[in-house]
Amino acid sequence: MTELGTAARPLRVAVVGSGPAGFYATEALFKSDRAVVVDIFDRLPTPYGLVRAGVAPDHQKLKSVIRIYERIAEDQRFHFFGNVTVGRDVTVDELREHYDAILLSCGAETDRRLGIPGEDLAGSHTATEFVGWYNGHPDYQDREFDLSQEVAVVIGQGNVAMDVSRILAKTVDELKETDITQRALDALAASRVREIHVIGRRGPVQAKFTPPEIKEIGHLADCDPVVDVAALELAPACRAELEDPKNTHARKNLAVLEEFASRTPSGKRRRYHLRFFLSPVGIEGDARMERLVLEKNRLSGEPFHQSARGTGETTAMEAGLLFRSVGYRGVPIPGLPFEERKGIIPSREGRVTEGETILPGLYVAGWIKRGPSGVIGTNKPDSYETVASLLADIGGLAPCPHTDSAAFAERLRAQGVRVVSFQDWKRLDALETERGQAVGKPREKFTRLEEMLDRLLGA
Ligand SMILES: Cc1cc2nc3c(=O)[nH]c(=O)nc-3n(C[C@H](O)[C@H](O)[C@H](O)COP(=O)(O)OP(=O)(O)OC[C@H]3O[C@@H](n4cnc5c(N)ncnc54)[C@H](O)[C@@H]3O)c2cc1C
Ligand SMILES: NC(=O)c1ccc[n+]([C@@H]2O[C@H](COP(=O)([O-])OP(=O)(O)OC[C@H]3O[C@@H](n4cnc5c(N)ncnc54)[C@H](OP(=O)(O)O)[C@@H]3O)[C@@H](O)[C@H]2O)c1
Repeated sequence: MTELGTAARPLRVAVVGSGPAGFYATEALFKSDRAVVVDIFDRLPTPYGLVRAGVAPDHQKLKSVIRIYERIAEDQRFHFFGNVTVGRDVTVDELREHYDAILLSCGAETDRRLGIPGEDLAGSHTATEFVGWYNGHPDYQDREFDLSQEVAVVIGQGNVAMDVSRILAKTVDELKETDITQRALDALAASRVREIHVIGRRGPVQAKFTPPEIKEIGHLADCDPVVDVAALELAPACRAELEDPKNTHARKNLAVLEEFASRTPSGKRRRYHLRFFLSPVGIEGDARMERLVLEKNRLSGEPFHQSARGTGETTAMEAGLLFRSVGYRGVPIPGLPFEERKGIIPSREGRVTEGETILPGLYVAGWIKRGPSGVIGTNKPDSYETVASLLADIGGLAPCPHTDSAAFAERLRAQGVRVVSFQDWKRLDALETERGQAVGKPREKFTRLEEMLDRLLGA
């Protein structure tokens, strides 16, 4: 039998998900000394995962990482199968017929829940929905957010909470030259939100946001940051965390918060309140949310292992709009194991496992492997680790019977799947850029699936 990974029989890998993890895995495969073909599948016609649909529109510079992914995609050994949902348009078993190995990098597409009464009342949303809406993700274009409310609350103090609250706090002038969708920009232009509360269950030392993101809140054109100095008085365990030489993150965050607390609000139109030691315990209202009930917390546990414990003391605040930004969560793919508690596909060094058993030929990388944490760059070593396992296994992989990617794409098309190639995507990319330039934006995204497909493939 011809050896896999040779010129006579290149290794065929299907990568499921074209976000950072998928592209870094492809890069690692291309850099190896093996002959390989990589076909990346994405359920959207557009590549790049959260770099396109998650990273905030006012953080354009971060999106320049796309240049690296474009170079990878230009390689002759690469094919893009856009608009193909694995688990729906094609099963994992079918993929096995065409690929020697399958590497899942399908991210974390839904969100964790708070599990409190009233969570699903109108006016209470997930950050995922809002982020997807302003970034033009086709799944979220019909969502409506009542921006006529004066008080908006964001639960959670990670960087996604920073993004969501900053977009609510910015003026149209601060957003109009970004790639935010025109629809979102128009809705935000009419926003009557005046008070934004960003609420953490633990204290300022445990906040997950990073120093540049919190610093940015101090430079908003028409929004004053507000921090109660009393919340910055530290208990001994928090002081111990702060004084740990490695914890520069918390020291920098605290310095920014102290500077905010020392400010006298300058009378800007909006106010941005950072509040600590509070957990939501109920969302109340008749037809829609009218108020949020919070329980005061104290911290319990050793330094760096402190968790929030409710004190039993509650307080209610009037609020008509709320975003739950408490973390993303993976979605299972039919036919593959899934660890419900963590929302991930279980694995060891990137090899998919079921109980103690390694499932041959199946690999994972990125958020679906390790959970929804880490910046774009975190996915690179993660994907490289997985590819190292895959390449180490090459001798034991079962060669797939079909080895023609173009024929496979044609077969899917014949079944009615409107497969988008990378060349198709580049045409859409050019159209978006052109539309954006006309209005002073880097791009104006297409946000409806049908519109994208009709533009590319005809109605
Ligand atoms: C709102 C937000 C903002 C962020 N901002 C930043 C930032 O500013 N800087 C930074 O460094 N990091 C940022 N991050 C983190 C960064 O985006 C992630 O670390 C990274 O995107 C995770 O990569 P991934 O490839 O695992 O998943 P993703 O980027 O989510 O990619 C997964 C891909 O899989 C596809 N997919 C899912 N299911 C299927 C299926 N069944 N079949 C086919 N395709 C499928 C999806 O369409 C998607 O394209 C942000 C994250 C979020 C949520
Ligand atoms: N600019 C950027 O670089 C950027 C932008 C966006 C996202 N990202 C990255 O993407 C990853 C995901 O970000 P994220 O903000 O979704 O996640 P995250 O950093 O894990 O933050 C989640 C937040 O939700 C809180 N939380 C969780 N469960 C809760 C509950 N039941 N009740 C109240 N609060 C709860 C957490 O508090 P505890 O700490 O108490 O658990 C934390 O404050 C992170 O690694 C982030 O850095 C980066």
